[in-house]
Amino acid sequence: MNDKIVGAVYEVTRKYKDPVTNLSLDKNNKNFSIIYNEGRINISINIQPNFKEKYKTLSYNLKENIEKLNEVLSANIILTSEKSQDDNISEKQRFSIDAKNIIAIASGKGGVGKSTFAVNYAVALKTIGLKVGLLDADIYGPSIPRMMGITGRPQANENKKLVPLINYDVKCMSIGFLIDVDTPAIWRGPMVMKALEQMYNGVEWGELDYLIIDLPPGTGDAQLTLAQNSKLTGSLVISTPQDVALIDARKAINMFNKVNIPVLGLIENMSYFICDSCNTRHEIFSSGSLKKEAEKYKTNYLGELPIEKKLRIQSDEGRPSCIDDVNSNVSKIYLSIAKKIDDSLN
Ligand SMILES: Nc1ncnc2c1ncn2[C@@H]1O[C@H](COP(=O)(O)OP(=O)(O)OP(=O)(O)O)[C@@H](O)[C@H]1O
Ligand SMILES: [Mg+2]
Repeated sequence: MNDKIVGAVYEVTRKYKDPVTNLSLDKNNKNFSIIYNEGRINISINIQPNFKEKYKTLSYNLKENIEKLNEVLSANIILTSEKSQDDNISEKQRFSIDAKNIIAIASGKGGVGKSTFAVNYAVALKTIGLKVGLLDADIYGPSIPRMMGITGRPQANENKKLVPLINYDVKCMSIGFLIDVDTPAIWRGPMVMKALEQMYNGVEWGELDYLIIDLPPGTGDAQLTLAQNSKLTGSLVISTPQDVALIDARKAINMFNKVNIPVLGLIENMSYFICDSCNTRHEIFSSGSLKKEAEKYKTNYLGELPIEKKLRIQSDEGRPSCIDDVNSNVSKIYLSIAKKIDDSLN
């Protein structure tokens, strides 16, 4: 009898999705469970405390619809943020850092503008008064040193931790500070992870409001391990609007969903080009695709950035747009995205 009632409750709940992870509330969902006791149903959903507000409507709908079942007297929806035993075990091996929010910038496809976004996002957060660190996790092609205009080698302090290099008030760490950028890093998986862990735990980051992680392109082992181990608050997925990039962006979204990391939103880069001579808008890589993807994956669409020669030059010269020309259209877009995300996390 109990099984039958619980089965009927699952029939109701599996039509709903977790608003943060987008996973269905069914038997495969590790964060979701149903207990039946003498006519009472207790539903527990394990959530990240930051996102409690997002579960209000879901809790209301679940309660209302479960209580419509004949056999159910009452339904209780309990939001927990407990760690499972598995989580506790791996917690010890996890990277640890004193940052209120840790956000990974991902794309799937290479060359679509992750690093440019990461740099401007970090600087934009700084300009709204937050303490920011920027970790270049792209072991194979570190771009942060150049884009942040930093050269030099980090020194170790008395705790044997590396002191980040700072420019524009943002603390930065990159493998590019430690090895010659023109030498290819031919490293195997475990070495990559060791190096990343070193840049994470072995760095004196201090207290941060945000640690922004610029991920390498792709959805391989390095990205997955980093996503799982670094206690991410969430991820942002950047893509250009054309199909070849979108295919890989979807892979990145699916990767984060699988490991229960919220995708905080999608951003369309190189969305359009305004011609200097005729002032016409050209949609070189198409336009509007990321907005549709965001609807499909029930995540936020955070905005679009034009393709601009000046932005490329600023990146190459190590002067992020949000520093070089705070009042430009592009800088305002970065700033508005940074504020939107910050508001959604508070
Ligand atoms: N909106 C834009 N307008 C003009 N140039 C841009 C824009 N976004 C990025 N770029 C330029 O495109 C190139 C690739 O950008 P970026 O390095 O940020 O991409 P990425 O996704 O980090 O690449 P990778 O996968 O190699 O790490 C850079 O030269 C950058 O300056
Ligand atoms: Mg990059």
